[in-house]
Amino acid sequence: MIPQSFIQDLLNRVDIVDVVGKYVQLKKGGANFMGLCPFHNEKSPSFTVSPTKQFYHCFGCGAHGSAIGFLMEYSGQSYPDAVRELAQSVGVTVPEERDRLPPAQRAEQQAKSVALSDAMTRATEFYRKQLRGAPQAIQYLKGRGLTGEIAANFGLGYAPDDWQGLEAVFGSYRDDNVAAPLVEGGLLIESSDKRDADGKPRRYDRFRDRIMFPIRNTKGNVIGFGGRVMGQGEPKYLNSPETPLFSKGTELYGLFEARHAIRENGYVLVVEGYMDVVALAQLGFANAVATLGTACTTVHVQKLLRQTDAVVFSFDGDSAGRRAARRALEACLPHVADNKTIRFLFLPAEHDPDSYVREEGTDAFARQVQTAMPLSRFLLQVVTEEQDLRQPEGRARAQYEAKPLLQSMPAGGLRLQIVRELADATGTTPAEIEAVCGLGSDSSRVGRFAQPRPRARRQAPTGLEQRVIQLLMSYPSLASRLDADTRALLLDSTRPEAEVLAHLVEACDGLQGAVNFAAFSEHLAQTPYAEVYAGARTAVLKEEIEEEPATMEFDGAIHKLLAEPLQRELEVLQKAVSAGGASEADKTRMVWLVAEVQRRRQLGLRPATTDGA
Ligand code: UTP
Ligand code: MN
Repeated sequence: MIPQSFIQDLLNRVDIVDVVGKYVQLKKGGANFMGLCPFHNEKSPSFTVSPTKQFYHCFGCGAHGSAIGFLMEYSGQSYPDAVRELAQSVGVTVPEERDRLPPAQRAEQQAKSVALSDAMTRATEFYRKQLRGAPQAIQYLKGRGLTGEIAANFGLGYAPDDWQGLEAVFGSYRDDNVAAPLVEGGLLIESSDKRDADGKPRRYDRFRDRIMFPIRNTKGNVIGFGGRVMGQGEPKYLNSPETPLFSKGTELYGLFEARHAIRENGYVLVVEGYMDVVALAQLGFANAVATLGTACTTVHVQKLLRQTDAVVFSFDGDSAGRRAARRALEACLPHVADNKTIRFLFLPAEHDPDSYVREEGTDAFARQVQTAMPLSRFLLQVVTEEQDLRQPEGRARAQYEAKPLLQSMPAGGLRLQIVRELADATGTTPAEIEAVCGLGSDSSRVGRFAQPRPRARRQAPTGLEQRVIQLLMSYPSLASRLDADTRALLLDSTRPEAEVLAHLVEACDGLQGAVNFAAFSEHLAQTPYAEVYAGARTAVLKEEIEEEPATMEFDGAIHKLLAEPLQRELEVLQKAVSAGGASEADKTRMVWLVAEVQRRRQLGLRPATTDGA
């Protein structure tokens, strides 16, 4: 975990205008800077960067965030990577790393990692050059329908049939300085039991006589390779081992090459093989990526959803494909959100995407994509497919199967919809499904919506709480105006917004010193209420409110929030009294209400403090 105080400090040092300005041409327009949005295609600028809020916002597509968010969106980096890059740009070190290693060791690590990246880059170049002089390899790629252009886009190469091929670029493997990064990067194999005459361990090329697929990270640096035999032979694909640069559980083949197409097409296609990615790119689907011979992980899914709102997985129609799809489903569930769509495409058993587009054509594949099964449908199919839903046992079993899947989903609209469908399919009610599956007492509980409340206690419009949230986000110090009594009343509410408000008030209390809006909302985006905060943030960005009017509005809103529900209950009872339909209990309640409304209206908010006074 990178400490929040560091993030705040970092965002105070960088200027988002500089950060964004490196990638987007910005022009000053009033208080803000404007430019063409890099996240969607547009002809006139609706992308603004606010130097005072240190935030960007596109009024066209809604993209928004801090300097960290911008780097994540723009280059698909993870949160820590984006933080690291920003930190580097202003010459500070992310504390996690600083604390772990003494400076000398740190410098050594840095040098090693530079040597490693450098080795990968030079090897990629070598393999590419070798391909030009290897007619049989060129023939193989042509035979698989690839053009030179596509091969060049993906940096495809050829590893010669040679045990010391890379020596041509790097020098003798006997030199430990030469060999070290190559071994660490997985390009050389070092045999511990076989030694040369001079006692050096024998070192030889891992990749020999193979077509080389460089694997790039989201910045475009080569971090590993996949190598395919050209004829028969085992293994068909040889992959780089896990190295300090490369981890199969987090990397996706083709993500760097596909990034523009993913943005343009509005979705990413996830396939299983290197060749599928390259062949699809050749035939018009440049937005494809592949897992690297491993199951899809939650990290993969997270990475993809950072780049796009729509993911389509493609699997073979056979049982292995179904199993892989099931794993992918599980990896997706923690990341589903109501503004994301995830779908599953099942090809006929004998096909992979490569063979399918070639045989059936681009249009047929595009139709497959369009009609791919939504995640909800697939989940319901998975839990019901082997059960006899005519029997109580079968219906109970389906619920049992659904339990862990539903539990791993965040509460939200989609989970609610799935719960409803499962309830229908298993002859029960959504509330019972939630009970059986232990879906907890969070704000999206079906029961909350399903059970109408007595009229007098009906929920007020949520606008007021939302407004308070917005004001607090603009000026977190407003939280200090709430005394203990007010807090208790405010937060002791069954309304879902109260939970968020409680959370926000606490977050505000925890802030110290000058607060940077971007840093604070970045922090809030890492919390369970990220979505609510994102909505509030958009509103805050559209408005420039000064502290004084904000304080007045805040006080007024708090008074209303405290008294309004009681006030409305009171009005209902008063009507009942004048219509002669009030019971004794109603009258007692009225007396209490009158006093309580009065009390709440007078509750002390602290008087506005001015600086230094
Ligand atoms: P497939 O065996 O389905 O191969 O492996 P493919 O992608 O269709 O390849 P072509 O069309 O025969 O060239 C799918 C993926 O599984 C991993 C690779 O990532 C491959 O792309 N794999 C497969 C390995 O890592 N090693 C292997 O030996 C085989
Ligand atoms: Mn294939």
